[in-house]
Amino acid sequence: MVCTDRTFVMIKPDGVQRGLIGDIVSRFERRGLKIVAMKMLVVSDSLAKKHYEEHAAKPFFPSLVSFIKSGPVVAMVVEGRNAVPIVRSMVGATSPSNSSPGTIRGDLALETGRNVIHASDSPESAKREISLYFDNSEIATYKRIDEQWLY
Ligand code: PPS
Repeated sequence: MVCTDRTFVMIKPDGVQRGLIGDIVSRFERRGLKIVAMKMLVVSDSLAKKHYEEHAAKPFFPSLVSFIKSGPVVAMVVEGRNAVPIVRSMVGATSPSNSSPGTIRGDLALETGRNVIHASDSPESAKREISLYFDNSEIATYKRIDEQWLY
């Protein structure tokens, strides 16, 4: 059965600098989720502000924006049934002190401001964030060989 639920994921600058790209991508792949777009980029000031615009009034907004611009990130589109909630559960709670062992933040992070990864919190956010980072032409359509065993 074809599944087109998609979410947006970003490995933040700390995840890239700490050499965690492979570990994180591997977790999604092993779960059965499909990477349908991926690129490394340095986020511009305007893109960072647009991405996090719903938090513009929060006290941590300036540090959030400056951190996300501070080095290369890896942006991805991840596809699979219920991709948004499943990826959020794999990422773990925002604060690593509340994130369970076994989650990405629970295994790999210690601080909220250095929490390794971002993932969309709703299908609407996923749609918006995917369109901020990717053109439709950059998103691949393909069948993974294990899909018949996953669904
Ligand atoms: S809120 O207030 O509940 O809406 O915020 P939340 O969804 O938990 O977090 C929104 C993003 O801001 C990051 N964040 C912070 N960054 C730096 N310092 C502090 N104190 C802080 N608090 C929250 C948090 O990691 C979220 O970023 P993403 O990239 O979505 O994880």
